[in-house]
Amino acid sequence: MINKIVLLVALILVYVSRNSSAVWASVGFGLIGYVFSDWLIPRVGDSFIKIGLFGKDLSKPGKPIIPETIGAVTATVYIFTMLFCIPFIFYKDMVVTTSGGGHRDISITENGTSNGSFFPHNKLSEFLSAVLCLQTTTMIGIADDLFDLRWRHKVFLPAIAAIPLLIVYYVDFGVTYVLVPNFLQKWVNGRTTVNLGSLYYVYMAAMSIFCPHSINILAGVNGLEVGESIVLGILAVFNDALYLLFGPEVSHESHKLSIIIIAPFIGVSYALWKWNRWPAKVFVGDTYCYFAGMVFAVVGILGHFSKTMLLIFVPQIINFLYSCPQLFHIVFCPRHRLPRFNEKDGLLYPSTADLVENPPKKFFIPILKLLGSLNLIRLEYVDNGKKDTIKSCTNMTLINLTLVWFGPMREDKLCNKILMINFIIGIIAILTRHLIGTLLFGTDNLRPITAF
Ligand code: UD1
Ligand code: MG
Repeated sequence: MINKIVLLVALILVYVSRNSSAVWASVGFGLIGYVFSDWLIPRVGDSFIKIGLFGKDLSKPGKPIIPETIGAVTATVYIFTMLFCIPFIFYKDMVVTTSGGGHRDISITENGTSNGSFFPHNKLSEFLSAVLCLQTTTMIGIADDLFDLRWRHKVFLPAIAAIPLLIVYYVDFGVTYVLVPNFLQKWVNGRTTVNLGSLYYVYMAAMSIFCPHSINILAGVNGLEVGESIVLGILAVFNDALYLLFGPEVSHESHKLSIIIIAPFIGVSYALWKWNRWPAKVFVGDTYCYFAGMVFAVVGILGHFSKTMLLIFVPQIINFLYSCPQLFHIVFCPRHRLPRFNEKDGLLYPSTADLVENPPKKFFIPILKLLGSLNLIRLEYVDNGKKDTIKSCTNMTLINLTLVWFGPMREDKLCNKILMINFIIGIIAILTRHLIGTLLFGTDNLRPITAF
């Protein structure tokens, strides 16, 4: 019944968008995507299990088997939704009348304007490059779920998916300079901007690699991958809303594009979250993590606010930096770093890496001890009295750190706590960016906010 009401609201929004903003069409399609995914997900689980796409839920008694890679369903519904969206997003730009005889010198659009401008092919190419990039990313994710690709093979693949985006950025926008904060200007001869040239493209390619993988390594608790992606989506839309309400006119187009890409993403992700939250009925797979991360890279690049986009990824950046010793094999990294489930009390405890059989690099032992004394990891010693040989350390993820700081807890409580931390840090990051933008750069693009 609720889904029928949602569908009705969606159709009204899509209809209304003809005479107002295309943003409403994308919100409408987001709701349709939600209803369709919610209907589809429980119906495809058995087929996934039949072809071997399943995983063990490691934090449940008996480790039951549930369908995995269901993110492929979500990503496919999203891509179809975006394709259906195209006629509605470009409805007002479509030429319905020209001067005839094959001439396209004067065009009259549906909203009655006759200004000689033609269909905005650049906007359509932006949109199609986004869809192509997400489609390729989904393919990479499915390949990873099917063949469990090695990290060294898969790590750079998302950058290949991002090539269409970078080409469109180069042709349509091409800005490669960054603002220099006031206090650093004396180092660059008083210049207020520095042109990074091709390095800026390297940076954007790096972002397209970082975002997908950063979501994949902050994972392993029911509902977390999808939950954090929804939180990131809400934060991005919050930032867009600030620009649309207070920002200059020139920034409106890119922030509308951001909402147009993110609204359907939130819709399909919310349906997935309903089935993936504790106790999970399905797993999302690497497909979803890559797809979700790439949505934000796409928005950051095409919306021309990739640096602000990285701000909302602060928790994922912290998780990555914290994980580095294990990711770069300075400290042993087990196949799974998700928390340890205790069947007796049903709670999650920090999981550990065995450092007796796999000792860490020598130079890192004092750093491990320092991290231990700062309560940033928990160490166990072979002989607790002497404290010289480390027996194990807790795995370096924000998930385990939350358990080190707040004690053992049930899986759903842990997930909610991490999502709440993610949300609060994101809001603080966005507000700080706008509030101290003027202090650092002497200017900010949200005028009324920086007025105080
Ligand atoms: C990444 C992490 C790994 C973590 C895993 C969990 C790094 C370097 N890798 O690996 O430490 O253990 O994600 O997703 O940080 N699972 C659950 N409950 C969940 C989610 C997943 O038990 O809520 C288990 C299931 O057995 C599932 C498996 O994790 O089949 C999926 O792991 P996979 O996505 O293949 O791991 P990676 O992405 O390689
Ligand atoms: Mg994974």
